[in-house]
Amino acid sequence: MENDPEPFSERLRVPEALTFDDVLLKPQESTVEPDEADMTTQISTNVTLSMPVVSAAMDTVTESEMAVAMARNGGLGVLHRNMDVPEMVNQIARVKRADELVIPFENVVTVDPEDTVREADEVMERREVGGAPVTSNGDEVLGIISSTDVRPHLEVDETDFVRKAMTDEVITVSEDVDPRDAFEQMYEHKIERVPVVDDDDRLVGLVTMQGILQRREYDDAARDDEGALRVGAAVGPGEMDRALAADEAGADVLFIDCAHAHNRSVIDSARTVKHEVEADVVVGNVGTREAAEALVEFADGIKVGIGPGSICTTRVVTGAGMPQITAVAQVADIASRHDVPVIADGGIRYSGDAIKAIAAGADAIMLGSYFAGTDEAPGRVVTMNGKRYKQYRGMGSVGAMQSGDGNRYMKDGEEEFVPEGVEAATPYKGTLASELHQLVGGMQSGMGYVGAASIPAFKQRAEFVRVSSAGQQESHPHDVVITDEAPNYRPDGE
Ligand code: XMP
Repeated sequence: MENDPEPFSERLRVPEALTFDDVLLKPQESTVEPDEADMTTQISTNVTLSMPVVSAAMDTVTESEMAVAMARNGGLGVLHRNMDVPEMVNQIARVKRADELVIPFENVVTVDPEDTVREADEVMERREVGGAPVTSNGDEVLGIISSTDVRPHLEVDETDFVRKAMTDEVITVSEDVDPRDAFEQMYEHKIERVPVVDDDDRLVGLVTMQGILQRREYDDAARDDEGALRVGAAVGPGEMDRALAADEAGADVLFIDCAHAHNRSVIDSARTVKHEVEADVVVGNVGTREAAEALVEFADGIKVGIGPGSICTTRVVTGAGMPQITAVAQVADIASRHDVPVIADGGIRYSGDAIKAIAAGADAIMLGSYFAGTDEAPGRVVTMNGKRYKQYRGMGSVGAMQSGDGNRYMKDGEEEFVPEGVEAATPYKGTLASELHQLVGGMQSGMGYVGAASIPAFKQRAEFVRVSSAGQQESHPHDVVITDEAPNYRPDGE
């Protein structure tokens, strides 16, 4: 009959969807040494990073300390949104200030010429600085004093005035100072800090040797046009106040953060945010071609992942999801035609997974569990059965939803949550820098096996082979007992 519905059994003719363990990169002829592989990538319309790595917007992963460390190493940290808007603004400011060349006037510690050396010493110790400009009338620079200048006076007479102990021939630099000039001035005059003054010789800031050296140490850091570290901020669907405040505070990328962004109201509110802010707007998460079609016309980037995360229970609780390699490839099919970057979010356990995500079409990856055990993640280290761990929990877990608003999972103000994530512990891992070294080093080696010297070349050249369960078993260490932990391999679940 003409109006017969399609038989249900037709639904069982299902397409195949693959994830990390289902595939391997086919080795190809190569002239590329792994450490030569250039990891530069674009994660949104206006943001390029020297490594394709982003830390997850989760309350056990990214606060300002993680964001500073990620940006210094060349990646990006995305601040979670389980904090109120003023706190998020503070954290953005902390990242932006972390490596500033010129400490702005309001943050410069100054002393008065009529203070005693004891008072000056106390102020410098309390504010943890080694020296301070001496000013009168607020911003008129009369001299500069350091703890070395103060010390002999403290021995002899601690009521001596600063005026007596200070150096009154002050080397200054102008507001448009560049780091090289400031360094040369300090080197030539054997000094640690130079006041920055305006055309009327009024104090407007301070440059320190420590600040300059710190910037030099991180020459691949992710920086904005002013040289400040870059930072991302998660914004819930419809959270216009947070979006505007984060944008105003200088966030470089806003991540519209929703477990299922292929939803009319989420897309409408993301589009409105995009019209109102200067920052780039990345929207996620999605996992299908159709969702990508809905986002490409306005988003600066698309984030992919429906249920692959290590702490996610979305797929078992809701029955919905998309294995991650297929999800990334489907979204990248559409996004790449519109030059919209794709970020693969969740499920990455090893560097091999990370580079497979790029081969499937992603421009960058987002990680939670990989970083949650590092020193820079929030929370303290706990010891259980002689092993050290840090807490790691899904943003859809009961605990995280109780301390936030739950609207990532469309559960605004519910009394009893239906969680889509678990609360867990993850092994303590030490510094973020060493985790990143292993992660990126492994990815570069993968690029070496494929013979690609850059991310765009790798995305073009990579080919997958399908792996059987026997092949998958063969991929991991087998038939041995591991006696020493490798820094980049932990058997699943450990
Ligand atoms: P990994 O595997 O790196 O995944 O730990 C991190 C990503 O998981 C997502 N996420 C969740 N997904 N329930 C979910 O279904 C949750 O409670 C949850 N919390 C985080 C998120 O995309 C994150 O970046």
